Amino acid sequence: MSVLVAYSTRFGYTKKTAELIAERLRLAGKTVDTADARKVNQAQIDGHSSFVVGSSIAAGQWKGPAKRLLGRLAGAGKPVAVFVSAGGVMTGKKPGSAPDAPPEGTIEERQAEAVRLFAQPVCAALGLKPVAQSAFGGRMAFFGKEMFNSWDARPVETWADSLAGTLS
Ligand SMILES: Cc1cc2nc3c(=O)[nH]c(=O)nc-3n(C[C@H](O)[C@H](O)[C@H](O)COP(=O)(O)O)c2cc1C
Repeated sequence: MSVLVAYSTRFGYTKKTAELIAERLRLAGKTVDTADARKVNQAQIDGHSSFVVGSSIAAGQWKGPAKRLLGRLAGAGKPVAVFVSAGGVMTGKKPGSAPDAPPEGTIEERQAEAVRLFAQPVCAALGLKPVAQSAFGGRMAFFGKEMFNSWDARPVETWADSLAGTLS
């Protein structure tokens, strides 16, 4: 049986994170598929033994397709790990801080705060008890001007490697 890594993205960074998670799980010997959450059908839910679901965060909210998929998985009784791709707290910078201000706190502290803000409330509302939760940075640009880029492969790899032991 295999793992399905599903994601909802607008600008591609959640997909990039999902694909890196899939790559690491494959390196650990798992059979892994990836899919846009909009396209996950019942056969895919029935055909995979565990799931990783990720969403980008916009205006504090999950994207609808990933959230709806989590709702379907809450009733499926299979292991589900959850991640979000966020700006805000994942940059380690306070709103209004100087552009060259160093990030505050550790990556683990930022991840814990983003999980508390964005992953836990959604899982609780859907009645889903995830086997693992994490948060990763992303990138935001407006009209070609980069506002931030906090995407980093290392925390993604660390989490994915730990997931390999968690997901059956
Ligand atoms: C319109 C917009 C709203 C956003 N709102 C939030 C937010 O409320 N909280 C947050 O942490 N990040 C926010 N972000 C940052 C995104 O979560 C981040 O850029 C993420 O990497 C986007 O993922 P994607 O590339 O998969 O779409 C926002 C980004 C955009 C473009």
